[in-house]
Amino acid sequence: MAAVRLNAYLARAGVSSRRGADELIRAGRVTVNGQAAGLATFVAARDRVAVDGRPVSLEPLAYVLLHKPAGVVTTARDTHGRPTVVELVGHAVRVVPVGRLDTDTTGALLLTNDGQLAHRLAHPRYGVEKLYEAEVEGVPDAEDLRRLREGVDLDDGRTAPAGARLVRSGRAGALLELSLHEGRKHQVKRMCAAVGHPVRRLHRRGYAGIELGGLGPGEWRELTTGEVEALRRAATRRAPERTARQR
Ligand code: URA
Repeated sequence: MAAVRLNAYLARAGVSSRRGADELIRAGRVTVNGQAAGLATFVAARDRVAVDGRPVSLEPLAYVLLHKPAGVVTTARDTHGRPTVVELVGHAVRVVPVGRLDTDTTGALLLTNDGQLAHRLAHPRYGVEKLYEAEVEGVPDAEDLRRLREGVDLDDGRTAPAGARLVRSGRAGALLELSLHEGRKHQVKRMCAAVGHPVRRLHRRGYAGIELGGLGPGEWRELTTGEVEALRRAATRRAPERTARQR
């Protein structure tokens, strides 16, 4: 293990969140090799870390794919007492969600205790693909699809190039497939509303090439070694630069 900051080590060991670890360190409750530790302390595998005198050891890394149902919140703890994705998974190690899905959005959500990978996957620099199915009001025409693909002006700037395909349409509305390489708050809903087709239901089918397959709502599974390796590769390839026109 490369040296990591002490708060990250304590979080990975399942002691607390990073912020909680900072409080423990500030309170003088954490020692490294018998010495009181500071916020700037780094630790490596050979170091002996203890909280209140009790040794702390690292948990194995865990990677989980959850089919998030509607009504469950994407946080570790909800201030309004609603069910959370972390409770739903109930994994033996302390995994946290990578990015966010709205409470009413269903679908693929990764959870892990690999803080470094999670941080990279969520970073816009790597442009990891998120594949959505959006049931929208009305039927988007060719011009609406072109705007979704080329970029929509939102209040936080123009969206990056995306994939947009009409899967089916009927009198009640349409189903769109959207492939995004960024992850702004409520992005799909804002993009669809901006082209005049508000989202009625949103589902994420895949994340970084990993699809739900047969996982039912509320079910989860560990990722395979191959999937974890693919995620690592996705989080090291920079997304292609956008052109000035698309920006
Ligand atoms: N875009 C949204 O609008 N909501 C989500 O949950 C995910 C993407």
